[in-house]
Amino acid sequence: MDIIILENSDQVAAQGAAKLQKLLLDKPAAVLGLATGGTPIALYRHLVVEHQNGKLSFRDASSFNLDEYIGVRPTDPQSYRSYMQRHLFEQIDIDVANTFLPECAADENPLEVGPKYEQLIAARGGIDLQVLGIGQNGHIGFNEPSSSLRSRTRIKTLTRETIADNRQYFDATEVQPQLAITMGIATIMEAREVVLLATGSSKAAAIRQSIEGPVSAMWPASILQMHERVTVLLDSDAAAELANRDYYDWVQEQKRLLLHEIEGA
Ligand code: F6R
Repeated sequence: MDIIILENSDQVAAQGAAKLQKLLLDKPAAVLGLATGGTPIALYRHLVVEHQNGKLSFRDASSFNLDEYIGVRPTDPQSYRSYMQRHLFEQIDIDVANTFLPECAADENPLEVGPKYEQLIAARGGIDLQVLGIGQNGHIGFNEPSSSLRSRTRIKTLTRETIADNRQYFDATEVQPQLAITMGIATIMEAREVVLLATGSSKAAAIRQSIEGPVSAMWPASILQMHERVTVLLDSDAAAELANRDYYDWVQEQKRLLLHEIEGA
């Protein structure tokens, strides 16, 4: 795991965006794995600015989101489809036909959505880079604690804790969904590369458990310890409970020195 601790949330967003930008420069037809929630909004803003400045195109890219609520129409402002349109898709040159979420149409059997989504991801060659946020309870996607570490895209019931955490995104009059379809943990683990973003002190315990605790279905993000290419971008609040922080900073410093030496050679 590459653990990078930055001063503030904007640096987290900028470094996350830079990873996506580099991928798209190297591979314009990349398959992106995207997340919603509060954390990646600033990252998407960076991507939009780079696109507006003519430095980034999504013309040949495609994307798969982690999750979508059940029972919320795509046009509803609370759907994750609407979120993606608002924060990213409408402001860049991606072909909307190449953007996918595990959506369940009104006439569709929700049990069939997951397997179809998995086929679609495979048909596009798999996900090159998956962006993740993390729940206060350690969830990734909506894989709540006790999710199978080998799970695939399927229906999940949100925990009461997640529903309470996400209450901030809903008006008092809005009905908050309790079910979602989410990529599974095994699905996420098949991405060729993962970048996990966490900002704020409310994520500090989940980050400590997931990075320094044992791999456990009770802290779903801990499975990332088993992935070959993971970058964890943290602000200092989210990193506050890490026991080995000095070491992670030292590693980054050594990397910088090594790169400097290689490039200077
Ligand atoms: C979103 C998702 C969730 C969020 C997590 C953190 O698509 O899958 O796992 O990443 O709940 O949400 P925020 O960023 O709102 O704290």
